Amino acid sequence: MPKLIIANWKENPVTLKEALVLAEASDAPCVAIAPPFPFLGAVRAVVKEANLAAQDVFYEEKGAFTGAVSASQLASVGVTYIIVGHSERRRLGDTDEIVAKKLRAALAQGIIPILCVGESREEHKAGKAEGAIRKQLDVAFSLLTKPYTLIPIIAYEPVWAISTEPNAEADTPKNAVYMIQYIKTFMSHVALPMLLKYIYGGSVNAKNAESFLKEKEIEGALVGGASLKQEEIKKIIETAYRY
Ligand code: PGA
Repeated sequence: MPKLIIANWKENPVTLKEALVLAEASDAPCVAIAPPFPFLGAVRAVVKEANLAAQDVFYEEKGAFTGAVSASQLASVGVTYIIVGHSERRRLGDTDEIVAKKLRAALAQGIIPILCVGESREEHKAGKAEGAIRKQLDVAFSLLTKPYTLIPIIAYEPVWAISTEPNAEADTPKNAVYMIQYIKTFMSHVALPMLLKYIYGGSVNAKNAESFLKEKEIEGALVGGASLKQEEIKKIIETAYRY
């Protein structure tokens, strides 16, 4: 089975026209495209094989929450994955508690959450990565009271490795594997019995994709910047098919 590629476009591209060109270039069954909200429906209409992901969700199902989008609304337009807890959303105010509510909201609507966890550069340098991630995981899963049949995804995304961070560089596959193994062991003790899937994100591109995706512990990649370049994403998809 090919590895999973999540194309996280963030607040890009600027126009629907560009979005559709990019969606067609990214169209493969192992891909989930996470475009900005306004492009979801149109992207869905042009892709034949890729799945649809949302970059965020609000945890209330409906009501007087101007600007918010709920998991049930996302489900109704065909979204199958929702990214929760991305470091860029955490930076804009999402606490671990908010992330927990979003994770629960996605699962309640039958949408697979992609929970992002990762340590900051300071935590990394201070050798505190494991502790930081433990806290994020502990709180994120704390509101779940029943097992779900869906398989949530945990994306290990060290914040310092995200391509738009100052002096960013991709993590080493060795450390990514170590951290994913750590997360797996931790989750086997704290979570309700549930299957989980583990992916890596942070400066994945056409050149380094193979070094991550060939690792059996890394079941896919969350790709930001490189998913905006047609040639890059095509090569990453080809790589995903080799493993
Ligand atoms: P990047 O982004 O691939 O540009 O580092 C990954 C992410 O932020 O999800």
